[in-house]
Amino acid sequence: MQKIIQLMSEELEKAFENAGYDPRFARVVASNRPDLCEFQCNGAMAAKKTYKKAPIEIAKDVAVQLEGSDVFSKAEAVMPGFLNLDLQESWLAEYLTKMSEDPELAVQKVENPRTVIVDYGGPNVAKPLHVGHLRAAIIGECLKRMGRRLGDTVIGDVHLGDWGLQIGLIITELHERQPDLVYFDENYTGDYPEEAPFTIGDLEEIYPAASARSKEDEEYRNRALQATAELQQGRRGYHALWEQIMKLSVADLKENYRKLDVTFDLWKGESDVQKYIPDMVKKMQDDGFAYEDQGAWIVDVAEEGDAKQIPPCMLLKSDGASLYTTTDIATLLEREQIYHPDEVLYVVDKRQELHFVQVFRCARKTGIVRDETELNFLGFGTMNGKDGKPFKTREGGVMRLEELIGDINKEMYKKIVENRSVRDKDAEETAAIVGLSAIKYGDLSNQATKDYIFDVERFTSFEGNTGPYLLYTIVRIRSILERYEEAGGNAETCVLLPAEGKSEKDLMLQTARYNEALSGAYADKAPHRLCAYIYELANDVNTFYHEHRILAEEDTARQQSWIALMTLVRRVMLDAIDVLGFSAPERM
Ligand code: ARG
Repeated sequence: MQKIIQLMSEELEKAFENAGYDPRFARVVASNRPDLCEFQCNGAMAAKKTYKKAPIEIAKDVAVQLEGSDVFSKAEAVMPGFLNLDLQESWLAEYLTKMSEDPELAVQKVENPRTVIVDYGGPNVAKPLHVGHLRAAIIGECLKRMGRRLGDTVIGDVHLGDWGLQIGLIITELHERQPDLVYFDENYTGDYPEEAPFTIGDLEEIYPAASARSKEDEEYRNRALQATAELQQGRRGYHALWEQIMKLSVADLKENYRKLDVTFDLWKGESDVQKYIPDMVKKMQDDGFAYEDQGAWIVDVAEEGDAKQIPPCMLLKSDGASLYTTTDIATLLEREQIYHPDEVLYVVDKRQELHFVQVFRCARKTGIVRDETELNFLGFGTMNGKDGKPFKTREGGVMRLEELIGDINKEMYKKIVENRSVRDKDAEETAAIVGLSAIKYGDLSNQATKDYIFDVERFTSFEGNTGPYLLYTIVRIRSILERYEEAGGNAETCVLLPAEGKSEKDLMLQTARYNEALSGAYADKAPHRLCAYIYELANDVNTFYHEHRILAEEDTARQQSWIALMTLVRRVMLDAIDVLGFSAPERM
């Protein structure tokens, strides 16, 4: 269905035309004086030049045409030439009725569906998932869901960090600890053991130990670099070890993402594109893009007019090893070949912006990416603790994601058991559902590009702009509907009537804006805009609720209308939180 703002503009276009003015001036926007009107049109001001006429005269001419309009109950010309507009209650009720009948809740699909790859995981194997990867998962998952909801084909790729120095470090450290492992014997030609020589717990201890040592011990670091290069060049034993690391690590990562309700279509990683790299680099050399510099192969990506210097892209180091940049460019090559995407969107920490400028430029310049393929980088800000510094554990270490989720759920559990009458058995499950809303909404309601403060207390509150507040509102509506049915009513057959009071109309208006809010948020890649919409909707529900005794209403038709409205609002809220990436419990 069309957005109400479009339908209003169409009505106004007719009025402009009938009054003898160009309909292109008839654009309706939300009112910037909600105390005076619901919508407004500033077109008369813009038309002043064309018609050499006072805007107020133009506005008055148009207003006359709107007398008796089905769409507007008020169209008032005010100085210096605004048209103040209010919607007709009956028209609004009709719109909402159609919206109720539509399984899509009036959400318009994109006109030209596209294929979009969202690259939004970026965890590094053999390192525990930490809070730094939380934002990528939350924001990326939301953008994926938005795109799908609006009709695009969206492919989510986790893009594992599985091919870099961290693997070389683990191999080196393992060699130190267990030099006799068959994986290190270069002459060995038999099969490697099924069983890994370490557990996931070992890995999580080995990596930080190796990383710390490499910072102090240059010889050790060089061995790790060499192991990385040899792995990439296909050394059998190292590859077998790598496979063991991958098996354990990926299973662990999947479990973590499951807890976040984040799913990927592709579990590809940097290692998957190793096979393209030799030919890709060769072609760049042959085409004259890549040149040798002290044994390394690089491509210039600086462009005229760059405000700051963009360093060249390094493809191969002098030891032949590929880099983060190389695998990202080769990944674009594979994505073009397999998926022909219209857009590739990276949801990654904004501190990696320069890396992506280099990758995008190199991939375009060398013809790896078609001109039509949009490449976008959505760089997100840092998640800080209350002290304004990057979020840490109480001991000052890197916070593991599992730990963070655990903390939130504990807090949620406490609140739920304290406040509500939920039986204990359900309380834990409910705490996990509400806890996820606290984490995800806390993140998404902030503009992605900005840093934000992860405030457990605030995010888990049942009041204010929080996930739990939204869920609380949804649960409240559910309980009204349940009680209505328990008393013998049938919510499904209830018919919506035109609003009578202000809070009722406000709620109806906000509900009718869902289409616009969702499309706008997706177009701007701005989940926080959908959050702002749904928060306002929840506020409108609660204002209305406090002013009306729905279940005690004696006018049956009126009561049924409110029930119909509650049913619709609940559906909109559930749809919106699903797009945001969380769900609602039955009770709280
Ligand atoms: N593994 C990287 C990191 O932890 C993030 C990967 C982001 N995606 C990409 N295609 N580079 O920093």
